[in-house]
Amino acid sequence: MQPGPLRNAYLEALGIDRWVARNSPPEVQVEPAAIPARLEVRAPAPAPIVRLPATPAADWGTLRERVAACTACDLCKTRTQTVFGVGSTSADWLVIGEAPGADEDRQGEPFVGRAGQLLNAMLLAIGLPRETVFIANILKCRPPGNRDPKPEEVARCLPYLQAQIALLKPKIMLAVGRIAAQNLLATDLPLARLRGKLHRFGEADTPLVITYHPAYLLRTPSDKRKAWEDLKFARATWQKSIGGN
Ligand code: URA
Repeated sequence: MQPGPLRNAYLEALGIDRWVARNSPPEVQVEPAAIPARLEVRAPAPAPIVRLPATPAADWGTLRERVAACTACDLCKTRTQTVFGVGSTSADWLVIGEAPGADEDRQGEPFVGRAGQLLNAMLLAIGLPRETVFIANILKCRPPGNRDPKPEEVARCLPYLQAQIALLKPKIMLAVGRIAAQNLLATDLPLARLRGKLHRFGEADTPLVITYHPAYLLRTPSDKRKAWEDLKFARATWQKSIGGN
């Protein structure tokens, strides 16, 4: 998809070093079709603790209002504001993170801090400017001190994400990080076991790809190369799902 020089520029933006052996033959661009088929894993039905909202939201405005007014868990007492999600409501891609951090709680938008900047670069690396995807989190409110979400908070909040998925009907979902992956797949498996496979989510069997959280990649840049593989895999999956090559 990307011509070599452009792809290389993106890799540089991601901070991924290109190791080229001396006297190596010219680099071969791997087209999505050449990427080996991966295991198809069907995600189990959402965890039984998830309670669906009494009336599924019929439109984005209603859903946004419900989220803004939510008092279903104690996070409503400590949040500055809810963080609904951002992006195109006709996007093919739904990117799902964990929960708002301090910057997101202040600004009301997901992934606006340093991790967000890296996420933007990761998306751009596969040809997707931030505004062309939809970005949301498992939790709509910030856990104090950025602690991990509690199971009961996830249980109360996940129906909002499910409603977003029902309205958006994404062609592909990209879960960034362990918390998003485990909660979407209702599993305790570590991220390493969840990456590199094609999962399916919900009744629509939406393709779901798992990769590292950008905040983790900021701490562990040596794993950026593996994230790049995940992104290429997700892009190839998406292209297949829309009938491309
Ligand atoms: N980390 C997340 O998982 N989500 C955000 O919105 C910001 C940081």
